[in-house]
Parts: sequence; C-alpha cells; structure tokens
Amino acid sequence: MERATRIEEVRRRLDPERNAGRRIGFVPTMGNLHAGHLALVARARAECDLVVASVYVNPLQFGANEDFDRYPRTLEADAAQLAEAGCDLLFCPRDEEMYPNGLAEQTRVVPTALAEVLCGASRPGHFAGVATVVAKLFNIVRPHVAYFGTKDYQQLLVVRRMVEDLCYDLEVVGVPTVREPDGLALSSRNAFLTPDERRRAPVLYQTLCWLAEQLRGGRRDFAALEEEGRKRIAAAGFRPDYLAVVGAQTLAPPSPGERELVVLGAMYAQAARLIDNLPVQVGD
Ligand code: PAJ
Repeated sequence: MERATRIEEVRRRLDPERNAGRRIGFVPTMGNLHAGHLALVARARAECDLVVASVYVNPLQFGANEDFDRYPRTLEADAAQLAEAGCDLLFCPRDEEMYPNGLAEQTRVVPTALAEVLCGASRPGHFAGVATVVAKLFNIVRPHVAYFGTKDYQQLLVVRRMVEDLCYDLEVVGVPTVREPDGLALSSRNAFLTPDERRRAPVLYQTLCWLAEQLRGGRRDFAALEEEGRKRIAAAGFRPDYLAVVGAQTLAPPSPGERELVVLGAMYAQAARLIDNLPVQVGD
C-alpha cells in the first residue's frame, strides 16, 4: 500500500488510473480503524479496481467541548490494517494540508435542514464540518464510488444530498452497521466506556430493536414510544440524548402511511456519546 500526505501526490498517483478507465473506490475515515471501517474497505475492494482510504481527524466537525483532542490517533496500526484489507493508497494529510488558510477562513458547505435535527441539534455545526471535509476529499480523490457506513445514518443522508445538490459525479454506497456479538455497534468511541458501561451499552441497540418491533406490530404513538425508549436507556444508567422515529429519507416525523422508517438514538456515557440506528419497514 502506498501512502500520501500531500494532495498533489494523490492527484499524481490517481490521474493516470482514472484516465486508464480504472474504477476508484474511496473510504473516508478518521482512523482508529475497526471491523466496521474494514467492511467498507472490503466492499470497495470487491467493487473497484483501485481502493483509496483517508485517515484524517477533521477538526472542523468537532465542537469546542467535544473529544477532538482525545480522539484516538493510531495511524501505524490503521495503515497495517488497511494494507491487510487490500487498500492501494492511504491519504493521511496534516491539518496544514487540509486547511492551509486556517479553520476560520475555510470556505464551507452548508448542508440542508437534514443537518439540523437529531445529532445536528446536539452538535451544532457538526455536519457542515463533515460536508466540507468530505467535499474537499472528493475533490482530491475524485472517486467513482464512495463508501459510508449506515452506522452514521444522518451523515450518510447529508452526504448523499450534498452529492446530489452539488453535482458530484460519483456514487455513494451505504454499508450496513457492523456490531459486537451483544449488538453494540462498533465505534472508536466505545474505547471511552468503562468496563461496567461497556456491559450495559447494548441497551441502545436493544431499545432500537424494541422500538422497531413495536412499529412493525402496528403502533404509531411515536411520542409515547420514544418516551418509553428513553426510560429504558436511563434505567440502564445512561443519559439519553434523543430517540426518534422518523421517515428514512426525510428524518422528519413520519407522515401517515409512510412505510420506510428509521429509528435513531443517541446517549451519553460518562466520557462518550454513542449513536445507533435501525431501518424499519412497516406495513399500512
Ligand atoms: P469515522 O467515524 O472514522 O467513520 C468512517 C466511516 O466508517 C463512516 O462512513 C462510518 O459510518 C463508518 N463506520 C463507523 N462505524 C461503523 C460500523 N460499526 N459499521 C459500519 N460502518 C461504520 O464518519 C467519519 O469518520 C467522519 O465523519 C468522516 C466521514 C471521515 C468525515 O470526517
């Protein structure tokens, strides 16, 4: 696997490949890779001629009181895993390369109202930071296909909409969430859980499964369901942030008869905020 830290190196390496008609798959990450990230790389490997991954902890998407400083940085271990998974090129830029004019002076992508609810409500500016760095990465790598996890469902929708609205000539593929055997979604932030919190953390996934079951069983009293779900999370010793049943494409309260729903949740442990979601298809 080759490694590049400069934008120019990436372009020099990929331009001839693109000109030769090779299909370029791209997996953007913030590193500290686990089996969830590697599922994206495996999918790219299976579908593309050339696989590019990025490892960059993007300061623009972290709020002032969030975990940017302590976000785990494990570049050498990440590079080894990527090479093993069949990645061809790793782009791991420094901040000066990505934001040469500084964060305050960076031109930004303004996402739609999709970015204002759920995680966007708890993390103001987060999705503008994500959309901006993803736009830059797309312009650097110019992939034919980009791979994102449905684990970050709202992020996937924000990116899909950006690609559509800004006319990016690429396909966005969503890859299902990889979980621990007890249901907890793999996340770099799971490392911040105490052993006791880790034992209790599957409550988020269990609560989403319970909500999905209620919806499939015909319940439509969303507010009562969300309240009951929040109670389950609080009873397990976590502070619920949000629990929501929404339309799978709109992230807005489902309209009567809407069949493609998604249940999403976020909760706080002592030193981490965890998120998860489940798609739910309901009958009439
Ligand atoms: P990061 O949290 O490192 O995630 C990189 C990609 O891995 C995202 O598309 C995410 O949805 C996916 N992913 C994370 N956990 C997963 C799991 N358990 N199963 C499947 N996929 C999983 O998301 C980001 O980085 C950043 O916001 C980024 C898009 C790189 C922009 O900075």
